[in-house]
Amino acid sequence: MYHISVLRDELVKSLNFENNRNIIVDATIGLGWHAWEVIKKMKKWDIFIGIDRDSENLLKAEKQIRTEILSGKWEFPTCIFIHSSFARLKEILSENQIHTITGIIYDLWVSSVHFDEWERGFSFRSDGPLDMRFDRMSWEKTASELIAYTPERELFEIFRKYGEEPKAFFIAQAIASQRKQKPINTTQELAAIIEWASFDPKSTLRVFQAIRIALNQEFDHIIQSLEQAIELLESNGTIGVISFHSLEDRLIKQTFARFEKGTIDEITGQTTIPALLKKINKKPILPSEDEIHTNPRSRSAKLRIVSKQSIH
Ligand SMILES: C[S@@+](CC[C@H](N)C(=O)[O-])C[C@H]1O[C@@H](n2cnc3c(N)ncnc32)[C@H](O)[C@@H]1O
Repeated sequence: MYHISVLRDELVKSLNFENNRNIIVDATIGLGWHAWEVIKKMKKWDIFIGIDRDSENLLKAEKQIRTEILSGKWEFPTCIFIHSSFARLKEILSENQIHTITGIIYDLWVSSVHFDEWERGFSFRSDGPLDMRFDRMSWEKTASELIAYTPERELFEIFRKYGEEPKAFFIAQAIASQRKQKPINTTQELAAIIEWASFDPKSTLRVFQAIRIALNQEFDHIIQSLEQAIELLESNGTIGVISFHSLEDRLIKQTFARFEKGTIDEITGQTTIPALLKKINKKPILPSEDEIHTNPRSRSAKLRIVSKQSIH
């Protein structure tokens, strides 16, 4: 099981460690590669919070980090590990008596281990149960249930909206007809139906992506979490987000844009609500040629960084 973290230095550099007390969240700790670099820069009076929706990934990261802490080689901040969606950010922090943060990072999409473990059902390249849940502990609905019970029209909309799939209509129709005869329970069964209906091998990738996004309600969780992060952030605190897909990047850009503009009174021309966020980089940061060469998965990554404006 292997996951190479993407834009590692750039994401860690997005954080400002110069506060009297740093309170930093890694909202997608995964296997902890980014988190480890962050933790090493923190002091013992700081607080680090690592969140992941996947309890298995979270446990691996926590075990690794706790082992390093026990080695006594480093000065460590207080580390808190939480199994949850980052959509519950405010609630999670308040349960831990934390009411503001100085920085937060997100490294979105799926970790390589999700694709590598056939039994998670994320990949159509191996046969496995049609599962696709990030959170197998508390998210009840699986991808095979979504495929079984979602009306044909809604399936079409999911494939269009989250996969930008041109053959969405034919694929939804084929699924609706096949499931009347027998349940679609495995990744290979679904892949075969998609290929048969679309004659396009790329459709399988797009439809699998769309089902995963819809099932885990990924985009709603991103918006909810970013809005809470903006509220919780102290002045000059930063948010760094790595996305891997143009739909995801657009969502982040649009969410930040809502807070980058203040509200101006049309009559007086006075600012009534000041802008809360400032872009740190005009354009998103992309991986270098070297990084893409050593880790081809990084080629579609984009990092956006914003900071919270101080309001007087
Ligand atoms: C690309 S990986 C992160 C890798 C991590 N930065 C590292 O260095 O190992 C994305 C992680 O985000 C998690 N994730 C996805 N959606 C989430 C959500 N709504 N809340 C919390 N974690 C989520 C996934 O379970 C996965 O472990």
